[in-house]
Amino acid sequence: MKKEFWLEKWQNNQTGFHKDFTHPLLVEFIEQLNVSKGDTIFVPLCGKTIDMLWLNSQGYHVIGIELSQLAVEQFFSQNNISFELAKDSLFNVYTHENITIYQGDFFDLTPSHLQNAKAVYDRAALIALPDGLVEKYTEKMLKIIPDNSIYLLITLELQRTTTDALGPPFSIPDKKVHQLFTQYQSVTLLQEEDIIEREQGFQKLGCAYVYERVYLIDKD
Ligand SMILES: C[S@@+](CC[C@H](N)C(=O)[O-])C[C@H]1O[C@@H](n2cnc3c(N)ncnc32)[C@H](O)[C@@H]1O
Repeated sequence: MKKEFWLEKWQNNQTGFHKDFTHPLLVEFIEQLNVSKGDTIFVPLCGKTIDMLWLNSQGYHVIGIELSQLAVEQFFSQNNISFELAKDSLFNVYTHENITIYQGDFFDLTPSHLQNAKAVYDRAALIALPDGLVEKYTEKMLKIIPDNSIYLLITLELQRTTTDALGPPFSIPDKKVHQLFTQYQSVTLLQEEDIIEREQGFQKLGCAYVYERVYLIDKD
């Protein structure tokens, strides 16, 4: 999938994945990460999620990575927070107190960017990536997050009609999660729920079901 795809989505305001509230499953399961205040949580493919603000309000430091400059700037402007902007070879680096967002390509990150991360909070990143790229994503993640990282994953398995099934959101069944994270030490399913009844956007896509699943993953 070309980077332009996501940049255009942001330019055209096609951001149905964005929620204007903190994700309830993050609030419910944050304790499972067993992180302490002051620890750093990595939020990959972060968009402009206000989950980063919530994490920061709970005392955690946050590192995000997002391709779209528009998304990053909307995160700061729509939440009325100032930022400082610096350059790191391949990234624009936006910071506000304990929130740092790298604007650029996830695949350009190196372990040095994440050396202080204790945990990963990943919501709606896997469903953004097609077959082939999603495997590269979890392989890259394994290389850049520190050993002993713990990973809270929220993802979706959905049934699409065949005609519109070419683009995201891509379905990530339970079996695929286990395949993607096979090199990690453990993958534990914490919760699953069919959310189709309350998700009009997915009803419009013609989905018969949308299983939202939460996993806890130990790197090692
Ligand atoms: C489905 S959205 C999820 C956003 C966010 N996690 C949330 O919960 O609202 C996927 C995001 O990934 C970003 N993205 C896609 N490919 C990327 C890449 N290679 N590097 C960084 N960000 C990327 C897109 O711009 C988009 O904002």
